[in-house]
Amino acid sequence: MANDSILRVEHVSKLYGPNKSEAMQLLSQGMHKDEVKQKTGVTTALWDVTCDVKRGEILAIIGLSGSGKSTLVRCLNLLHRPTTGEIWFEDSNIGELGKKELLDYRRRKISMVFQNFGLMNHRSVMGNVAFGLEIRGVPTIEREKKAMEMIEMVGLKGWESQPVTSLSGGMRQRVGLARALTNDPEILLMDEAFSALDPLVRSNMQFELMRIQSQLNKTIVFITHDMDEAFKLGDRVAIMQDGRLIQIDTPEQMSAHPANEYVRQFIGSADRAKVMRAQNIMVTPDCVVHLSEGPQHAIQEMRRAGVSSAFVLGPKMTLAGLLTVDGAIAGIREKATIADKMLTGLPTTTPDALVSDILPLAAETRFPISVIDSNGTFVGLVTKASVLSCFVDSPDSVEKNGEAS
Ligand SMILES: Nc1ncnc2c1ncn2[C@@H]1O[C@H](COP(=O)(O)OP(=O)(O)O)[C@@H](O)[C@H]1O
Ligand SMILES: [Mg+2]
Repeated sequence: MANDSILRVEHVSKLYGPNKSEAMQLLSQGMHKDEVKQKTGVTTALWDVTCDVKRGEILAIIGLSGSGKSTLVRCLNLLHRPTTGEIWFEDSNIGELGKKELLDYRRRKISMVFQNFGLMNHRSVMGNVAFGLEIRGVPTIEREKKAMEMIEMVGLKGWESQPVTSLSGGMRQRVGLARALTNDPEILLMDEAFSALDPLVRSNMQFELMRIQSQLNKTIVFITHDMDEAFKLGDRVAIMQDGRLIQIDTPEQMSAHPANEYVRQFIGSADRAKVMRAQNIMVTPDCVVHLSEGPQHAIQEMRRAGVSSAFVLGPKMTLAGLLTVDGAIAGIREKATIADKMLTGLPTTTPDALVSDILPLAAETRFPISVIDSNGTFVGLVTKASVLSCFVDSPDSVEKNGEAS
């Protein structure tokens, strides 16, 4: 890994709301963003972040939900414009790029892989992967050749003419990755790209990403809220808290010399379950249907998401139950409704429940735990694997957990 910086982030802040100057004054005095919000109504997504990304490294950005990770990566390609501060790509201040130069930067230098894949369902695998080159006007033969290389690279050879709707979640994520790689960008931005995948598929994808990175030597900025994933993938790890960058270091250095108590707790194994709450580890369900819809629709939705069950929501986003694909098929056969066929009495918890307190429930249930807020709204899911992973020692156990053999 070369040691020069490909990106430099200099004193970047991102605030939302009127009256930013007063908020900035308070923030620079060290006031916490919650208090700033109360006093001024301004939301602080990022405050005074300075760091660099080195050419050829995987930089993992980690932090609890709402700590500013997505805002930071979206500043790197100017999907968000910083309120103050500068971002440099090599020798260019990207804030000063013209419209055309910015487009070029996004198409050629920096590509984003999203958590929800962002694929075009009416297109085949090839049609999705070659899309970036298509809009650049690259001739068909040439773009399909390049796309095919990347389809092979991510292990999807043989699937190129299939519709993306026929693929499982893990395979769709591979398509998303191949599509980003086909642009041959220097930098890949991955925002919780693997967070929605089930643990085994995720572990496989982590391994694949490391393999691809070592072959193609890309610079990767990888966001995660999972410390194991950060330590496994990251050459360096940046830890965010409440919009501030607390520490950026190699996993070894970070473990040996945590910058403060927060970092120590975050990486400390057993302690982690006592700082993490359900809202910090919850994920969005892959497949949701509404009580008023029919079983046929539910099956279509499950097929689209590549899963075998769907969460059923009632009025105002309340959780009604869980419908399995078998239940849905029986429903069609018997001309029954989703309500007749869904499972009810699912395990639930609240957003602020400590992970350590959810453990007993996670250990005994065979369903993901639904997170329900104080208004009765269904806000997400906590899986057994994500609860258990909070209890895994890291980073020493990372090698043992990896399937990368
Ligand atoms: N468009 C927006 N308007 C107001 N606040 C926002 C906006 N986007 C993000 N935020 C706030 O900024 C903070 C950081 O969000 P985000 O970068 O998405 O965090 P993370 O990715 O770490 O979960 C959160 O408090 C979020 O509510
Ligand atoms: Mg985010």
